[in-house]
Amino acid sequence: MTSTILAAVAWPYANGPRHIGHVSGFGVPSDVFSRYMRMAGNDVLMVSGTDEHGTAIQVQADKEGLTPQQTADKYHQIIAEDLQALGCSYDLYTRTTTHNHQVVVQELFKTLYDNGYVVAERQMGAISPSTGRTLPDRYIEGTCPHCGYESARGDQCDNCGRQLDPIDLINPKSRINGETPSFIETEHFFLDLPALSGALEEWLATRTDWRPNVMKFSLNLLKELRPRAITRDLDWGIPVPLPEWETAPMKRIYVWFDAVVGYLSASIEWAYRSGDPDAWKRWWQDPEARSYYFMGKDNITFHSVIWPGILLGANGQGDKGGRGSAYSPLNLPTEVVSSEYLTMSGSKLASSRGHVIYVRDFLKEFGPDSLRYFIAVAGPENQDSDFTWDEFVRRNNYELANEWGNLVNRSVSMAHKNVGAVPVAGELTEADRDLLDACQQAFAVVGDLWSRCKFKAATTECMRIVGLANKYISDQEPWKLKDDPARRDTVLHVALQAVSDCNTLLTPLLPHSAQKVFEALGGTGVWAAQPELRTVSEEGGSSYPVLTGDYTAQQAVWASRPIVAGTPLQKPTPLFVKLDDKLGETGPAWAPIL
Ligand code: MF3
Ligand code: ZN
Repeated sequence: MTSTILAAVAWPYANGPRHIGHVSGFGVPSDVFSRYMRMAGNDVLMVSGTDEHGTAIQVQADKEGLTPQQTADKYHQIIAEDLQALGCSYDLYTRTTTHNHQVVVQELFKTLYDNGYVVAERQMGAISPSTGRTLPDRYIEGTCPHCGYESARGDQCDNCGRQLDPIDLINPKSRINGETPSFIETEHFFLDLPALSGALEEWLATRTDWRPNVMKFSLNLLKELRPRAITRDLDWGIPVPLPEWETAPMKRIYVWFDAVVGYLSASIEWAYRSGDPDAWKRWWQDPEARSYYFMGKDNITFHSVIWPGILLGANGQGDKGGRGSAYSPLNLPTEVVSSEYLTMSGSKLASSRGHVIYVRDFLKEFGPDSLRYFIAVAGPENQDSDFTWDEFVRRNNYELANEWGNLVNRSVSMAHKNVGAVPVAGELTEADRDLLDACQQAFAVVGDLWSRCKFKAATTECMRIVGLANKYISDQEPWKLKDDPARRDTVLHVALQAVSDCNTLLTPLLPHSAQKVFEALGGTGVWAAQPELRTVSEEGGSSYPVLTGDYTAQQAVWASRPIVAGTPLQKPTPLFVKLDDKLGETGPAWAPIL
């Protein structure tokens, strides 16, 4: 059955290049899922973009001597290129500084305000005593009043995950210059979460297949919901769409309110660019459509409580009722798929401390599929996991290259050398049928695992089948069958069919090598489509790059594809490069192990 599926991928901040920890959280999981769902015949819309407003970008701009817009331009380009190189198959990867995005954000804000879910209140805000400027939440550090964690930030505690306001912190300090902030009274708009908590609770009760950690965390948040400030004293962001506030120089919508609305605005922009401006409604308004949100665990609150709260209020579905927005009725998330953290050699990746592996550097040297494989099989799916060069080299050499690469290489080589084409199969033995059956059965098992975002288990099952195929070849010893070419050809045919099936099973995870294997088996045209970087513009606006692609034209389908005897074969080139074991001890020159 065809389903309509929105893959909503967390928006990376435009305050620097992304590292492998970032893409292990939102990038690889969302892409593997989307690619599988497309192959299984579903209508997938995969959207995201760069998160360009807010204090993180403002602070980075100050550091680089750029304007916030220049900073956003610079990193949007870099991040989009990196995600393209990783093969992330977005239907649209856009940005939050578009006119379209501002219109959608303001419409939801305005609806919430009209419905009474956004209320003005005076609050204490932090300023820097030395400069007199507002001190952004994220740049205040102190002790968490809930759990005692000493490096909690002004917006949230990374240890217990609770939402914070800077004034809650015990012993607050500026992360920019170490000074103690002063607090002044300022007026802000608050999202009235308590008025939405009943509707949120009712909705959460209908969510049955969330990962247990996400559900537990979200239910806990509901217990202590308070109104949350959704404006900031800042001049970089979306203006508050109310008469007295629209022109206020230092009042902007909070970056998180702005960013989560991006899922909707990007869908609308995609529809507009596709030539059917209403097309987004299939993913947002049809109650049968499903939506999956992908992120790292520090984003859970915003996707399991704040964004659903915004959607309920904008639909007029909270305690205060109200009208629906111009886009309502809007669907709430079906699933929030969150990853834990990827550490490197035991400690948290941090650009600021140089303890980091940037996506760009990694891909330049090792290519996308070895990273995708590592993240799926050893990444932070259910618990924090550690990246070490040693483990990476081991996985690359002994699993990808020795097991999968070698299976492809020896099967195609032998068929090429002996026949020059896909050989004809004669009568099948029990061993032949066992292998082919195992491959057939894997489609249901692995497909179910990919669809439930069980990446580790899905990969392991694929590699188990690869192992069976390798064992089959070793057992059958086709190289010893010179005197029985008919049997030899049957063995090689069965082996190539297994290669083809394993390749289909692995296509969502390893789309670049899958294309090569498809071609090595004599296929032509696009097997697994890749995203393209395109320059677009809005009427009256400047142009900007987006990622997009035509994924419906690809040939990959979730089913065994019978290989055709007689298809010519070329001599194969190795799929994966084996890495020098020394790399595991030293790391590469650009990220040496110290
Ligand atoms: N920029 C945020 C981060 O990197 C994620 C924003 S996700 C969105 O943590 F939902 F708000 F879009
Ligand atoms: Zn805490």
